[in-house]
Amino acid sequence: MYVCICHGLNDKKVKAALTNGAKTPASVFRHHGCQVQCGKCVPTMREMAADHSTHDHHAHGGDRVACPNRHSHQPANSDAVPAYGVAAE
Ligand code: FES
Repeated sequence: MYVCICHGLNDKKVKAALTNGAKTPASVFRHHGCQVQCGKCVPTMREMAADHSTHDHHAHGGDRVACPNRHSHQPANSDAVPAYGVAAE
């Protein structure tokens, strides 16, 4: 499944970046030597990063429900389509 059409990043490529330490959509882009363009993939990447850290690491001390502070790390408009690279951080 393609996650990022602009750069042709499929879910395997995104997961590879997450496995190699990427924590944000921006770091996934950096891992693959590119930058956010249209930003449509950012919410999906953010979800994948959250799932990855929930399932593969326990740095946040539990799942999303048990750790309400995790949601405060996301911008209030995280459902909106971000238009700028900074929104991918
Ligand atoms: S779909 Fe990823 S930047 Fe456009």
